Amino acid sequence: MDLTVVHALRGSHRIGRDIQYDPVVASTMDVARTRAEAGEAEGFVALAGEQTAGRGRLGRAWVAPPDVNLYLSILLRPSLPVIKRLGMIAPLAVAAAVRQVSGLEVAFKWPNDVRIGERKLCGILIDAAFAGETPAYAVAGIGLNVNLDTDGYPEIRSIATSIAQELGRPVSREATLAALLTAFERSYDEPDGESLRLAWRARLETIGRRIDVRFGDLVEHGVAEEIDSEGSLLLRRDDGTLVVLPAGEVTLRAPEATGSGR
Ligand code: BTN
Repeated sequence: MDLTVVHALRGSHRIGRDIQYDPVVASTMDVARTRAEAGEAEGFVALAGEQTAGRGRLGRAWVAPPDVNLYLSILLRPSLPVIKRLGMIAPLAVAAAVRQVSGLEVAFKWPNDVRIGERKLCGILIDAAFAGETPAYAVAGIGLNVNLDTDGYPEIRSIATSIAQELGRPVSREATLAALLTAFERSYDEPDGESLRLAWRARLETIGRRIDVRFGDLVEHGVAEEIDSEGSLLLRRDDGTLVVLPAGEVTLRAPEATGSGR
């Protein structure tokens, strides 16, 4: 990873002005959190060549082998409404960066997976810390599969993909990172939350699908009907009632299990 290339590819900027690159860390989330607790300014980026204990959503591990992908955590100090938007800002930035470096178009799976076809290209993990009711900081963790050959990783081979795999050739991680940080800053600075929501929703393949949503110990079944202004999912249960889910894990329901395949 050559950071001089990344900085040269960007003009003046706030997000990613200060990038700490570590060849190996446990998790960039920890690096960003430690810097945040020490008073680091918004825009700091923790970037790693490899993570030995990469974290995914819902306590899962994130496969993060050396020098093929992007693993980064962006430190932010947003207001409460903007914290709630980070789950839209980050995937939109990834979509723009992927398009810029490869021409590929991605889709989103609620809450914030970025996919190509049925496979996951990028995972996003948002952590927020509060001082009482007031947000202290947030960390947007992004794991984007750039040049990964998933064939080498049986645990993710059938569910994951990478830009290189979809494109048939490798792409520059530096150019991808520069595009990602620039797009992130643009979306983060967008004052109109509704235009972000509409852009995000336009790529959200979950809408209209019959799904199961696991949220803690709770499992809800129904049709994904809409997304509210904060990115929560409005799920229409089979009994006609509507439930608002702020987060969760979506599984598409098999038509035969629901009787909806007729
Ligand atoms: C998911 O489960 O989809 C979220 C995955 C988030 C992975 C990224 S890689 C950079 C940052 N550091 C981590 O340990 N996790 C996030």
